Amino acid sequence: LVLVVDFGAQYAQLIARRVREARVYSEIVPHDMPVAEMLAKGPKAIILSGGPSSVYADGAPSIDRAMFTSGTPVFGMCYGFQLMALGLGGTVDNNGAREYGRTPVTIGEHGVLLEGIPAQHNVWMSHGDSVSQAPEGFSVLASTEGTPVAAFENVEAGFAGVQWHPEVMHSEHGQRILEHFLWNIAKCAPTWTIGNIAEEQVERVRAQIGETGRAICGLSGGVDSAVAGAIVAKAIGERLTCVYVDHGLMRKGESEQVERDFVAATGAKLVVVDAEKQFLDALAGVSDPETKRKIIGREFIRTFEAAQSDIIEAAPEGTTVGFLVQGTLYPDVVESGHGAGAATIKSHHNVGGLPEDIEFELVEPLRTLFKDEVRAVGAQLGLPDVIVQRQPFPGPGLGIRIIGEVTRERLDILREADAIAREEMTRAGLDHDIWQMPVVLLADVRSVGVQGDGRTYGHPVVLRPVTSEDAMTADWARLPYEVLERISTRITNEVPEVNRVTVDITSKPPGTIEWE
Ligand code: XMP
Repeated sequence: LVLVVDFGAQYAQLIARRVREARVYSEIVPHDMPVAEMLAKGPKAIILSGGPSSVYADGAPSIDRAMFTSGTPVFGMCYGFQLMALGLGGTVDNNGAREYGRTPVTIGEHGVLLEGIPAQHNVWMSHGDSVSQAPEGFSVLASTEGTPVAAFENVEAGFAGVQWHPEVMHSEHGQRILEHFLWNIAKCAPTWTIGNIAEEQVERVRAQIGETGRAICGLSGGVDSAVAGAIVAKAIGERLTCVYVDHGLMRKGESEQVERDFVAATGAKLVVVDAEKQFLDALAGVSDPETKRKIIGREFIRTFEAAQSDIIEAAPEGTTVGFLVQGTLYPDVVESGHGAGAATIKSHHNVGGLPEDIEFELVEPLRTLFKDEVRAVGAQLGLPDVIVQRQPFPGPGLGIRIIGEVTRERLDILREADAIAREEMTRAGLDHDIWQMPVVLLADVRSVGVQGDGRTYGHPVVLRPVTSEDAMTADWARLPYEVLERISTRITNEVPEVNRVTVDITSKPPGTIEWE
């Protein structure tokens, strides 16, 4: 176990991921956790992350010196590097020399940390203060124009640090430097693999649910619930019942994927609730986005609850269904301040919500995993690519991609257009380059067109291809013209109700990814 101490600048999650990419298990802890508590977890090493402040700012987070006398190896990055310098008796200058963004660094001595790294390379910096003198016993390894001490190490003591952010993609050789610290200075063995996690989680779930316990898992069609369900299915077999509420707002083929592919891969018992009519009736005459979302959320909970009651009632004599499976991921845990005890950044709750009057114990087999790890575990468990590589899709489905009232006919039009767009994106090999591409039907808009000799009066669709890292911000994706052309030609030829294809070129902000 390696602990990443979070100084609150959102770098900690990325660092934790990079450590795991180096095949060493990592967890994030908040900077105000007492050092004794951190050490009680028995970490093989501790990494101090970057942070937003100057070490001299009022109320700037600091670190108890006990961290450095425990014998545990420590690596500091950016803010963490400066804390380390100060805590061990070096000096940090508030000299006004700032470095932001891509910065050339010069290596004077490679030591263990920078072994084999090119003497000149570019790294990503973001700092105001600089370390002007390394602590006693440390070798200074690198410098930049504005920073005399940009990297140091004391291999005997197990300490090292860099002023830059080796975890970000723009820092060249960052991963290798991190690996040098983990493997060669902290002596952490690179033994943690996806195969281990899948097996470990199956074991854990088995232990939690016991020999006779029964569980329910709601499948959304998305990656997280599918992988969580697959783990639990492997652990307890037919004592798990999966529920899929088909609200009729899914894309073409998606419900079949759950019904066929998920069951084929996991052998899980699946209850499919066909609720299309119920949802469409409830949505009739409604155009307002928020109202639509509320209706879909409400109907979803109702349907799920009803299915749940049926399953509870049908449980064999003498058994109860006491467990509910949730696909909660590590970032949700960190952000809601539970798990590792991180500060509350935002309160997170799962879409769909849970009835409060039914008592379940939660089973959350993905609580320690990042999204890309969840995909890898899913693949390991035999789930097909169409499930584990699926792009994000909103819970309210196509209901919020039809601008105007949602009807069966409009859903069918959008489903066809969307299927063509997805097919062409896959064919062009672009699935991994974009975050997602909603296709939106402007159902209340009509425009005049011409096809053959005839005038048409049809609807426009909007393609909304975006790139993003976390959906909080996004940029519009510059798709190749040939791909846009194929999508446009095919949609207008194959979907008679659509006579125009447009592309949304708005970033987020100011636009959101979805249109509603
Ligand atoms: P926006 O439109 O807010 O979307 O930029 C950000 C990301 O969230 C997805 N999204 C949702 N996901 N339930 C979900 O599970 C929802 O109600 C919902 N609304 C938006 C959206 O597809 C994008 O990835």
